[in-house]
Amino acid sequence: MHTDWETSESAEDYSRNTAAAQWEPMGYPAVFRSLALATTDSDNAPPILDYGCGPGFVDRHVAEKYGRRVIAVDISSSMIDLARSQHSHPLVTYRHVPDSQLDFLGDKEIGGCMSCFVLMQMADSDTQVEICRRIRRTLAPGATLAVLNTHPGSVGIQFATLRNGEPDRVYQPGDPMTTVLTTEKGVLRLQDYYWRVTDYVHALEAAGFHEVTVEHLPPPPADPTPHPQFLLVRGTA
Ligand SMILES: C[S@@+](CC[C@H](N)C(=O)[O-])C[C@H]1O[C@@H](n2cnc3c(N)ncnc32)[C@H](O)[C@@H]1O
Repeated sequence: MHTDWETSESAEDYSRNTAAAQWEPMGYPAVFRSLALATTDSDNAPPILDYGCGPGFVDRHVAEKYGRRVIAVDISSSMIDLARSQHSHPLVTYRHVPDSQLDFLGDKEIGGCMSCFVLMQMADSDTQVEICRRIRRTLAPGATLAVLNTHPGSVGIQFATLRNGEPDRVYQPGDPMTTVLTTEKGVLRLQDYYWRVTDYVHALEAAGFHEVTVEHLPPPPADPTPHPQFLLVRGTA
C-alpha cells in the first residue's frame, strides 16, 4: 500500500496504473470546465497551478489540449522527477515543494488552480485549510480553485476500476481509508482519508474562498454504476 510517494517505485506504480485506468474521464473534464480552460485566451492568460500534480500526465494534457501554461507542484521529489522525464512540455514547469510551500509564487499571479485527489490524502483538516490558504494567496481575484476527490457518499461501492473504503464500514472524518484501483496492469492500493462533503467545503471556506459550490460527478461513461464517483468542490478567490 502506498502511504507516500517518495520512492520512484511508488511514483511509477501510480503512473502505470492510472494510465491503464484511462484517467481522463475520471472527473477531470469537470475540473477543466471549472477553470474555463476551453474558453480562455491561453496566450494572454496567467498560468494555472496544479497542486499535487503527481506524475504530470494531467499537466501535459492541459498544455497540449488548451495551450495553457501550467505550474505543477508536488511534495514528492520522485513524482516530480517522473513528471519531468515522462511528461515534459514547454508550457509546463514542474517544481518540487518539499514543505508544501508556495513561496516561490507571488501574490495573485495565478489564473486558477486544480488539486486532484490530494486533499483526500491529508490526515488532518488543519493541513487542508492551510494548503487552501496558501493556494488562495497566489490566485488572482476571481480565479477558481477546483478540488477533485473521490465521492465520500460512495464509500464501499465497487466501481469498474475503483473502490474507496470497505463495504459496510462506517467511516468518521479523518479515518484512514484505502482506495483500490484495479486495472489490467495490477492492483494499486492508496492510503487515503475519509472526509465528508462538508469537510471539503469547510476547507475552502476557512481558507477564504467564497461562492464555494459542489458537483457530484458520475463515473466515466463506460461504467454504469449508478452512484456519484467523484466530488468536485470549487471556490472563488
Ligand atoms: C493520488 S496522487 C494525485 C496526483 C495527480 N493530481 C493526479 O490527478 O493524478 C496525490 C499526489 O499529491 C501529492 N501530495 C500529497 N500531499 C501533498 C502536499 N501536502 N503538498 C503537495 N503535494 C502533495 C502526492 O505526492 C501525490 O503525487
